[in-house]
Amino acid sequence: MTLLKEHDLGTPAAPGPATVELQIDGLTVTVPEGTSIMHAAGLAGIDVPKLCATDSLAAFGSCRLCVVEIDGRLGTPASCTTPVAAGMKVSTQTPRLEKLRRGVMELYISDHPLDCLTCAANGDCELQDMAGAVGLREVRYGYAGEDHLDAEKDESNPYFTFDGSKCIVCSRCVRACEETQGTFALTIAGRGFGSKVAPGPANFLGSECVSCGACVQVCPTATLEEKTVINLGVPRRSVITTCAYCGVGCSFKAEMRGDEVVRMVPYKNGGANEGHSCVKGRFAWGYATHKERVLTPMVRDAITDPWRIVSWDEAIAYTAERLRSIQADHGINAIGGITSSRCTNEEVFVVQKMVRAAFGNNNVDTCARVCHSPTGFGLKQTFGTSAGTQDFKSIDSCEVIVVIGANPTEAHPVFASRMKRRIREGAKLIVIDPRRIGLVRSPHVAADYHLQLHPGTNVAVVNALAHVIVTEDLVDHQFVAERCDPDDFAAWAAFISAPEYSPEATEDITGVPSADLRAAARLYASGGNAAIYYGLGVTEHSQGSTMVMGLANLAMATGNIGRDGVGINPLRGQNNVQGSCDMGSFPHELPGYRHVSDDTVRHQFEEVWGRSLDSEPGLRIPNMFDGAVEGTFKALYVQGEDIAQSDPNTHHVQAALAALELCIVQDLFLNETAKFAHVFLPGTSFLEKDGTFTNAERRINRVRPVMAPKNGKQEWQVVCELATAMGYPMHYAGSSEIMDEIALMTPTFAGVSFERLDELGSIQWPCNDAAPLGTPIMHIGKFVRGKGRFVETPFIPTEERTNRRYPLILTTGRILSQYNVGAQTRRTENVAWHPEDLLEIHPYDAEERGVVEGGWVALASRSGETELRAHITDLVPQGVVYTTFHHPITGANVVTTEHSDWATNCPEYKVTAVQVRARVHARVGPDSPDTSRDQTDADVPALR
Ligand code: SF4
Ligand code: SF4
Ligand code: SF4
Ligand code: FES
Repeated sequence: MTLLKEHDLGTPAAPGPATVELQIDGLTVTVPEGTSIMHAAGLAGIDVPKLCATDSLAAFGSCRLCVVEIDGRLGTPASCTTPVAAGMKVSTQTPRLEKLRRGVMELYISDHPLDCLTCAANGDCELQDMAGAVGLREVRYGYAGEDHLDAEKDESNPYFTFDGSKCIVCSRCVRACEETQGTFALTIAGRGFGSKVAPGPANFLGSECVSCGACVQVCPTATLEEKTVINLGVPRRSVITTCAYCGVGCSFKAEMRGDEVVRMVPYKNGGANEGHSCVKGRFAWGYATHKERVLTPMVRDAITDPWRIVSWDEAIAYTAERLRSIQADHGINAIGGITSSRCTNEEVFVVQKMVRAAFGNNNVDTCARVCHSPTGFGLKQTFGTSAGTQDFKSIDSCEVIVVIGANPTEAHPVFASRMKRRIREGAKLIVIDPRRIGLVRSPHVAADYHLQLHPGTNVAVVNALAHVIVTEDLVDHQFVAERCDPDDFAAWAAFISAPEYSPEATEDITGVPSADLRAAARLYASGGNAAIYYGLGVTEHSQGSTMVMGLANLAMATGNIGRDGVGINPLRGQNNVQGSCDMGSFPHELPGYRHVSDDTVRHQFEEVWGRSLDSEPGLRIPNMFDGAVEGTFKALYVQGEDIAQSDPNTHHVQAALAALELCIVQDLFLNETAKFAHVFLPGTSFLEKDGTFTNAERRINRVRPVMAPKNGKQEWQVVCELATAMGYPMHYAGSSEIMDEIALMTPTFAGVSFERLDELGSIQWPCNDAAPLGTPIMHIGKFVRGKGRFVETPFIPTEERTNRRYPLILTTGRILSQYNVGAQTRRTENVAWHPEDLLEIHPYDAEERGVVEGGWVALASRSGETELRAHITDLVPQGVVYTTFHHPITGANVVTTEHSDWATNCPEYKVTAVQVRARVHARVGPDSPDTSRDQTDADVPALR
């Protein structure tokens, strides 16, 4: 494949629907009303020269290169800022225009370094292209006058440079930072000849810049340039693929030179991101070739033995033999597997198939157990489908945005940019969160209400909101009558109307002033299209499933479901949480969320898979751990998840892993879990995978390999070989055949194939005969389960309580530059922004304990104790402390407890009673060796 260059039409498309007919250079063109002449010309195949315009930004009209002539009008208007009109006759190429454009280019070039041949952007520079396009042959002004050629370089950002000598002050970067990213980090400082781009008073690294790369992407010169392009040269070919970090699921062009990635460029036709990116997907892909990556299978008989490098054949035979012998000794149910939301749908599908058909039990669970399992349960109970209801684009029609227990600017940044744009356009914002997240107040965005509840009181808040809606008669009665079960509604309305659920009665429990809560409820119910976006701050609670159902109740009661601009939208943490759940990773559900006890469904699988399947649900992850400690569960296959670090109550998890007779880890690195492993099967990075991911909008995106697997095998091949070695043959010619089997067995995927994905770009499930192009918005006209079901949601406080010994509540979250347990991002330059996890503590709580800024503190709970450094801030309220969990040394999960959601066992990560004490000496100082790396080279035998 060659390098894919998307056609830049210069200005954004106009929405239509009314159209206008005009003539451009004698061609008749019909375009939506409001289209610019430049855009209309581009659609007709006529590219008007331009420099300050690009189609991701509103027209600016500063460079004057795009001038045109219009019959009957004086002058030469800029085609980027002039809208089309019916009957207009436009000329884009006349001697007069050519002369004007050459004059403009002469001025630019007279103040530009003449180093094209050695410039990193040679061949990929719009200034160079435009000089050619306008036929510039000479610069009459010479190069001797005052210029900017000595302007300073800013190389502080780890990923891109700013070379002021090449800047033409077109403002594209400033506008991208505002319009696309919404950070407003850049400005044009100075006036006239002294005008220059500035990231505030500091350099890029020290500024507000979040390194999203939007400015680099729009820069028409080499002023803002990726360091990889400077080091490796301009790319030669591109492959469209999908980011492997968060659940936004951004599409990228992997731009390559040979087998080396030069840069990842966000793809304009990507359905989820439409050409935008964040620092992780755009820049943090270097971990894929990190020197600590393990590429060879390894085995050892005991975890105290050194690793032994073996061939793939030996590793597979060894593993199969040990699994079979454990089953012979301890029974068929003594083994199981865990699937990963970082892996493709195809990789996950074969693992759950191996467990069910080759292991012969249903002991398969997924890391979604510890994040969004309550979403699956709650939305299935109320709506009938375990998935979010909208596409991301839907927020463009939203008038009231509710963000609960989510921090989109940190965890779902590309969607957050879209959300912030909508808020700048006038949508109202309600934030429900114990912490003052960025959205509460950031440039040009402020929440109308921030309901700063006490951690663990979500359900009391959602009940109080519902109480106001019902008792103040803000219910959409027509919607409820037409779309919902009337008996369920009547019972729920009576339940929620009880005085004990009023904002006034719950104020002491939740800490939310009743007046604010009432006002927020009124706004949600009466402010027009209202949509709820939520994250792990909803699900990771002992009442996580109750809370999800409470949100569904709110949406149904107010009619905010089943159309554009509304809905219930779980923001998924990992890239393929939705997909790993869809693929049948839970112990009670076959692919497509169908219960294993459903004889009809199970028989369909038995027929295709040629094995009889267990009709009893298998073990969940916590049951596997308990079984291991008790001695009944003996072997575990772990696909791409670092359970020793990511699951709660680390001591218990470690005890379980240490008790296993066989632990098999398939991963890129020797992570914390691998310390307990007997078999290490090297995995593939997303750059090598061939398959699909499904994002938070149910959008299935292709993940295409840009290079051959560095370990020699696709992960699904390894799983198939293991199943085959255990006596259950599993063979596929390629991952597209696995998708064909998924489509055959899963009604919501019936119309999905690699071919169809190549044709459509991406598909949102359900995709079948009824919806051949997929389903951007669900539950239009009718809920999947038929009538929407209201569920009563009594508030039951968590058993985790503060007392004199543990008086503070710890809650956890993520930071933009890092990702989950940090296995990938810690192996990139992203550590420049977050070298360690910090404990946020309120100034009052800090002072009471003698805690100083940056000082070490001991953080203790009923489960364990760890140490980290403090950051004193009022982002957290008094009584609440907060940390991230990206560095293993922090041991955040040493302190989290085993309390979990009543329905799904999703751990209650968000509420842990703790004490914080200032420490004089720390276990590890800031200058100590980084023991947070999973294992050092010294621990690993020479691998290659
Ligand atoms: S840095 Fe690039 S995009 Fe920004 S003003 Fe200069 S030339 Fe334009
Ligand atoms: S990288 Fe993103 S946040 Fe930083 S200055 Fe550029 S557009 Fe703004
Ligand atoms: S928003 Fe998520 S999917 Fe998009 S680039 Fe960033 S990490 Fe990747
Ligand atoms: S491209 Fe139209 S004025 Fe710059």
